[in-house]
This record gives sequence, C-alpha cells and structure tokens, in this order.
Amino acid sequence: MSNKLIAPSVLASDFGNLQRDIEMINNSEADWFHIDIMDGVFVPNISFGMPVLKAISDHAKKTIDVHLMIVDPDRYIKEFAKLGANILTVHYEACTHLHRTLQAIKAEGMKAGVAINPHTSVDLLKDVIKDIDLVCIMSVNPGFGGHSFIENTYQKVQRLKEMITLNNSETLIEIDGGVTDKNAAELSKAGADVLVAGSFVFKSENQPETIKNLKQIANS
Ligand code: DX5
Ligand code: ZN
Repeated sequence: MSNKLIAPSVLASDFGNLQRDIEMINNSEADWFHIDIMDGVFVPNISFGMPVLKAISDHAKKTIDVHLMIVDPDRYIKEFAKLGANILTVHYEACTHLHRTLQAIKAEGMKAGVAINPHTSVDLLKDVIKDIDLVCIMSVNPGFGGHSFIENTYQKVQRLKEMITLNNSETLIEIDGGVTDKNAAELSKAGADVLVAGSFVFKSENQPETIKNLKQIANS
C-alpha cells in the first residue's frame, strides 16, 4: 500500500501568525513540518534561525524535517537536535566529509538527510546511499519559495529509486520546490515518498483541503 507523505514548508507561512499556521498543520492531514534554514552564503537568501525554530517546535506535534541550506553544517548538528529536529538534511554541495556528517547527525538521534541541487547527479550518492535516511531532490534552485518546478526532476527520481532498490536500502525520496497538484502524481509514480509544498499550500484559500487533496493525488 502506498503511503506518500506531505510536508508543508513553513517558509511560505504567515510569520505574523506563525502559531496559527503551525496549528493548521497539526490539525491537517500533513505528515511533517518542513523547515528551511538559509544562511545567505550557501544560498542567496536568509530565512530564519534558532529562536524561530524553537517557537515552531514548541507547538509542532508532527515530525520536524529541517533542511539546512548553510555552509559547514557540522557546526550546528548538536544544536538542531536540542531544538527538536527529527530529520536533519544537509546539502551534498556543502559537505566535504559527507559520510562523517551523516554519522554525526545519527549520533544525535536524528535521521540523516542529504539534499542535492538541480545540477548535482544522484549517481554521486551511490557509495553512501545505505547511510542516508532521506534524499531531498531539489526541484528548484534552493533559496526561495514560489519558483517553478524543474521538469528534469522526474528522471532523477527514477534513477535514485533504482539505486535505492538495487542496494536494498530504506532511503526515502523527498521532492522540494514547485510541488503542486499538477506534478504530484507523476512524482509519486516515479518513486517520490515525501512531497514538500510551500506556496501551493499557503497561498491557497483552504489550506487543510489543499493538503488533503495533494495527499490524495500522491497516493492515488
Ligand atoms: C527552497 C526551499 C523549499 C521551499 C519550497 O529553497 O527549500 O522548501 O520552501 O517552496 P515552494 O513549494 O513554494 O517551491
Ligand atoms: Zn526545503
């Protein structure tokens, strides 16, 4: 039975009403909170940091999936664990010793994720695939919400899915950027397990209904 997950991206929420939007996710059919941390160096944008994550995790009642778009993420692994992250995803492009970073994340009791930019081949993950709990395939260039989905993503998902199956690994595939009701079914079919959705959820009239529909499409 398919169990595709939906992870609304809090970056697209209304920060003036953050608690209201966190409760909306708590009470919806969403599975995870997707939290984007940007440092203005790895990506050309700065999102929010530790105090805001603390405020989110004080109210969130579901898995907290933290996506670090920062250089040298090793510096903050312990702190993110303390702040309540359940999954900590680092960028392949930001890690010199990726294998070591993954072990350090797991040592703090979190699941270890690796995100790859649109130009990064999934083949580069082959030698560490069994050490990765989640691969986040960026389907936009990281740094901003509301950008259009890059079509080449489908074939990356298929290739990664083949690699995971071949290696008998449990790694989940997450898609991040430009996810809507137009691409959810095809992403799911290609092998995606988790769909992150920011603008599509938060810019809609009825957010819980949008989450519910997206989940239905992903699981159809
Ligand atoms: C982009 C972030 C995404 C973003 C997705 O750099 O990693 O998580 O919030 O937003 P949408 O769904 O609007 O593309
Ligand atoms: Zn993200």
